[in-house]
Amino acid sequence: MSEINKRLLKNRNLSLQGGGEERVKKHHAQGKLTARERITLLLDENSFHEIGALVEHRSNSFGLDQQRFAGDGVITGFGKIHGRLMYVYAQDFTVLGGSLSETHAAKICRIMDLALKNGAPIIGLNDSGGARIQEGVVSLSGYSEIFFRNTRASGVVPQLSLIMGPCAGGAVYSPALTDFVFMVEDTSYMFVTGPNVVKTVTHEEVSSEDLGGAKTHAERSGVNHFVAGNDVECLKKARALLTYLPQNAYENAPKPSVFEFSAEKLDRIENILPSNNGLPYDCRRVLDCLVDDGSFFEVQEDYAKNIVIGFARLEGRTVGIIANQPAELAGVLDINASRKGARFVRFCDSFNIPLLIVEDVPGFLPGTDQEWNGIITHGAKLLYAFAEATVPRITVITRKAYGGAYCVMNSKSLGADLSFAWPTAEIAVMGAKGAAEIIFRKEIVDASDLELKWREKEAEYADTFANPYRAAERGIVDDVIFPRETREKLLHGFSMLEKKAENLPLKKHGNIPL
Ligand code: HXC
Repeated sequence: MSEINKRLLKNRNLSLQGGGEERVKKHHAQGKLTARERITLLLDENSFHEIGALVEHRSNSFGLDQQRFAGDGVITGFGKIHGRLMYVYAQDFTVLGGSLSETHAAKICRIMDLALKNGAPIIGLNDSGGARIQEGVVSLSGYSEIFFRNTRASGVVPQLSLIMGPCAGGAVYSPALTDFVFMVEDTSYMFVTGPNVVKTVTHEEVSSEDLGGAKTHAERSGVNHFVAGNDVECLKKARALLTYLPQNAYENAPKPSVFEFSAEKLDRIENILPSNNGLPYDCRRVLDCLVDDGSFFEVQEDYAKNIVIGFARLEGRTVGIIANQPAELAGVLDINASRKGARFVRFCDSFNIPLLIVEDVPGFLPGTDQEWNGIITHGAKLLYAFAEATVPRITVITRKAYGGAYCVMNSKSLGADLSFAWPTAEIAVMGAKGAAEIIFRKEIVDASDLELKWREKEAEYADTFANPYRAAERGIVDDVIFPRETREKLLHGFSMLEKKAENLPLKKHGNIPL
């Protein structure tokens, strides 16, 4: 081999070594895969093409001139997932802690620019000690360059962040700007300020895990969307999610021609609601009876459980589902449920994913906690997101649809393209008990038997309004259907709406109540 070619081979080999054998061993001992191993598992076999493998940092401060690594702590390039183009970067913790330098940032930005120009998703595998401390402000500037691109790419190409190690300081804001955040249990964390700073400032003692581990962000903050037990599971989940998404805002999600639907579900759904309309049930059982077998892919499963969101398929076509969950807080809307639902609706609307709303909502959660923390503004987010969405939207009211929550949950007047109600639906301003107390107060007070009169008036209100027929008479629901007819109605409805074209009034952008 010529000397010239030997030099290339040597450089290539250096770029494959990351931070060296010892550091890789330490990394593996923590249960983590290396950046290259992660990329290999994430992408289709042999599909990865690296860009910038020989890039090095250009800093000489604090001994950095003695620590140059080919690739500078991040592997960037493009490859395929299920045969579709993806742009990927993976931070290599074995190289200077995966810290972000000026050149490291420039490599990520290059990938993002290519993704935007070529209309394909960006997947970031984050594992980094944050800004490269020896470089100072230029590394901070690198972060800003990434944040700028995350924002510009938002709503143009799907962006996924897989947090597979530390992610602290302002670095958390790149993942926060992306569409979906995955975290790995026990080895990843995200926080703006770590436990030591927290202790100094607020005197709270908290571990990294409790402050910003995968479980914390899944259950308490809602910062992440998916949690995985280890690196391999995390990468597999990301691959699975991408099967539901289009490449960019100008394309549709892939539509597999093969799907299954078990006919017995039609019998199951007919009697799926409890006989007593006050009893809880798991709305996921209803969803399962509507969508292609095994196709429901839940998002933010452990956060604001009173609303269920996720992707599913109807004869192969991706839909985004938003369903009230009567098994949790009776399915009421509260601050967290509204935020969760709103962001999901906006994602689906950005990427041409039709919306299916399965409604059973008794109202908004009352209380000082909700009011003082801004349920008005947060509830308005969900309202705004539905009203603004131009993708096909179909609502199915299975049981309760009361008050403001009825309006918010993609009601007909809020622009739902089709609205169906089951015979068990109750569509009214409020529950019969509360309504009777207000509108029949005088009659009840004057009655000889208060209790009897009250129950009589409650029954009268329920008989008049706690059903779907008033709404159907006014065309506020398009049809009252048997539960077993629902899937067919959805299939035909979404098919009829396939070419829906609706433009918002010309404007720079709206002012969503953030
Ligand atoms: C340079 C870094 C580094 C960093 C880690 N390293 N973080 N080098 N800049 N930010 C280096 C370490 O010196 C070490 O090098 C190697 O990476 C591995 O780190 P360890 O500490 O041995 O690993 P571990 O014990 O697993 O601890 C990981 C860690 C810790 C918790 C992430 O390294 C850490 O606290 N790092 C600093 C985090 C931080 O404060 N970053 C700045 C945040 S502010 P050697 O050669 O010894 O192996 C920020 C602002 C962003 O990021 C703002 C954006 C707007």
